Amino acid sequence: MRSWFYILLLIISVEADNDVAYDQLPIALPGCLYRCGEVEIPYPFGLTPECSLNDAFLVTCNDSFNPNKPFVRHVPITSISVDDGELGIKSPVANYCFDGNGNVSGKNETFLESNQFTISTKNIITVIGCSTISTISGTFQGNENYLTACASFCSSYRNMPNGSCSGVGCCQVTIPGGLNQMHVTVTGGDITNGSDIYSCGYGFVVEESEFKFSSAYVPHYPNATVSTVLDWSVGNESCLEAIDSQSYVCQGNSSCLNRDLMEGYRCKCLDGFIGNPYLPHIGCQGT
Ligand SMILES: *[C@@H]1O[C@H](CO)[C@@H](O)[C@H](O)[C@H]1NC(C)=O
Ligand SMILES: *[C@@H]1O[C@H](CO)[C@@H](O)[C@H](O)[C@H]1NC(C)=O
Ligand SMILES: *[C@@H]1O[C@H](CO)[C@@H](O)[C@H](O)[C@H]1NC(C)=O
Ligand SMILES: *[C@@H]1O[C@H](CO)[C@@H](O)[C@H](O)[C@H]1NC(C)=O
Ligand SMILES: *[C@@H]1O[C@H](CO)[C@@H](O)[C@H](O)[C@H]1NC(C)=O
Ligand SMILES: *[C@@H]1O[C@H](CO)[C@@H](O)[C@H](O)[C@H]1NC(C)=O
Ligand SMILES: *[C@@H]1O[C@H](CO)[C@@H](O)[C@H](O)[C@H]1NC(C)=O
Ligand SMILES: *[C@@H]1O[C@H](CO)[C@@H](O)[C@H](O)[C@H]1NC(C)=O
Repeated sequence: MRSWFYILLLIISVEADNDVAYDQLPIALPGCLYRCGEVEIPYPFGLTPECSLNDAFLVTCNDSFNPNKPFVRHVPITSISVDDGELGIKSPVANYCFDGNGNVSGKNETFLESNQFTISTKNIITVIGCSTISTISGTFQGNENYLTACASFCSSYRNMPNGSCSGVGCCQVTIPGGLNQMHVTVTGGDITNGSDIYSCGYGFVVEESEFKFSSAYVPHYPNATVSTVLDWSVGNESCLEAIDSQSYVCQGNSSCLNRDLMEGYRCKCLDGFIGNPYLPHIGCQGT
């Protein structure tokens, strides 16, 4: 009976998704969907409560988008990596616009409020503008506060080399590890003379390798959202505490890794093994 059930599932999933090879190891629990739009959803993430480890890893797939779009607590996600314990998301860009007539518009942004995720040090705080001051505040797991600022000025729209953030028209500061909540504000003034140029300033947290400054971004950065990387972990215990507990989730042929600057742990296949180390009864298999 049971094996017929799995064969049926296999046929359904192959029909739904032709590019999945027969010999591929499973990435989700049996009977669970493992894809939303263009994004693979590996366990411990899942599209229903039964298919995910717990609330923190519950993904909602919104079918009003084409292709469908996955969200974790209203945050749009673009990739999930089990091997690196990372989550790719789209995060909002805070802005401030001045139209030369004294009219100002804009929005400040708060993002991320989950204990299972922190902002990766692969990101960089970036501010764009010619008279822009941005403050970035946040909290670390354990509630300690963080506060910094970055300001960007220029005397003209020159001396802004493309490809690098030189300090003119663009300002960057590195991010400390372990932040699980952030608030970005932007304020500033108008340096242009005349109402013809609508000048804006921007502040955001972006994956460093995904952002290349261009002088065309002053005074207008076109993106309303940018790519950002989060780190995720399982539970709130260290490996030493977790291994003996009921809730330990690392399966066969895998090991437990503590996370730097973050509560909880993650699992990794042993060298020479592949698969999803979180999947009960399956874990990692020899290559
Ligand atoms: C899906 O997205 C649309 C458009 O943003 C939104 O109106 C709707 O509430 C979302 N549905 C769910 C189930 O979140
Ligand atoms: C901008 O300011 C001017 C003058 O104060 C006002 O007449 C106009 O309606 C404002 N425009 C917008 C879009 O708010
Ligand atoms: C953003 O925050 C700054 C600093 O607190 C404030 O001056 C500004 O008015 C805020 N912008 C908006 C749109 O609320
Ligand atoms: C702004 O431009 C006007 C005319 O184009 C000029 O008379 C004025 O001096 C300029 N103001 C500044 C502060 O540069
Ligand atoms: C940088 O790139 C923009 C957009 O491609 C271009 O308009 C501008 O001239 C370039 N600036 C320099 C200094 O090369
Ligand atoms: C800005 O938007 C474009 C088009 O959607 C996208 O390809 C690019 O990756 C975005 N840039 C960043 C830094 O996320
Ligand atoms: C760890 O998580 C468990 C279960 O969610 C909770 O009961 C406990 O209070 C948490 N411990 C700490 C130190 O946050
Ligand atoms: C470990 O991998 C071996 C070789 O692929 C496999 O036979 C075994 O079942 C795995 N062990 C567990 C506990 O999954």
